[in-house]
Amino acid sequence: MPESISQPYDFSSLVHSRRSVRKYDLTAEFDHQAVARALELAALSPNSSNMQLWQFHRVINDDKRQQLATLCMGQNAAKTANELIAFVITPDKWQQRTRINAAHIREMFKGRNDKASKRALKYYEKLIPLVYRNDRFGLLGLGRRLICAFLGRNKLMMREVSKADLRVCLHKSSSLAAMIFMMAMRAEGYDTCPMEGFDSKRAKALLGLKSNDEITMIVSCGKRTDEGIYGERQRVDNQEIIITHA
Ligand SMILES: Cc1cc2nc3c(=O)[nH]c(=O)nc-3n(C[C@H](O)[C@H](O)[C@H](O)COP(=O)(O)O)c2cc1C
Repeated sequence: MPESISQPYDFSSLVHSRRSVRKYDLTAEFDHQAVARALELAALSPNSSNMQLWQFHRVINDDKRQQLATLCMGQNAAKTANELIAFVITPDKWQQRTRINAAHIREMFKGRNDKASKRALKYYEKLIPLVYRNDRFGLLGLGRRLICAFLGRNKLMMREVSKADLRVCLHKSSSLAAMIFMMAMRAEGYDTCPMEGFDSKRAKALLGLKSNDEITMIVSCGKRTDEGIYGERQRVDNQEIIITHA
């Protein structure tokens, strides 16, 4: 049971107790199995078209972790962490994931030949390749965007079909996985800090990523120290951000 969470803890107290921690207690015990469990939960996160175009790179080894911490601009949140986890998107795996999803649909709808089963299969066999296939310079995506803008003048149309849009789409899913991971770590009694302040080019090289892979964020983990929490939580008024269309 995490410290500072009432027993039995509820989701609200879990959310309230999560803070971005910038300095961890290096003398505290750290259970690396907690990270393994939290990542298994992160893999259950919702993700676009269930393509699961993500990877979670665990950096545990002291030497490599310190190298990556340096690439995180030497931030204390990285330097004092027990583990660093890079949440990575892997766009090049789209064909393999499409095949897996299509096979799953075929199995699920075995023996059926109705409209719903045909539509589900068409989604992975036709629509996904149409949107996920890209060339180096993004020209296919640009073409798709122009066609969608034209066709969308008088009918409903998906607009986010360029290569850049696909990157956003994959980073959204990867971010959700990172969020589930951070909550799961908090439920294990540990703390985290999500970081986008890092040298992405060098970090990719250190992790041996492919050229089209991208790091969504690096999340550090450890046990919080008091000075690792920078003051009271600061948020703008809910009135300003929660807009009700009644
Ligand atoms: C995508 C993203 C990137 C972030 N990058 C950094 C970072 O590089 N360094 C850092 O100290 N905090 C980073 N943060 C943490 C935010 O500063 C923090 O979430 C915010 O100040 C709110 O504080 P709280 O998480 O304690 O509620 C990042 C958060 C997010 C979501």
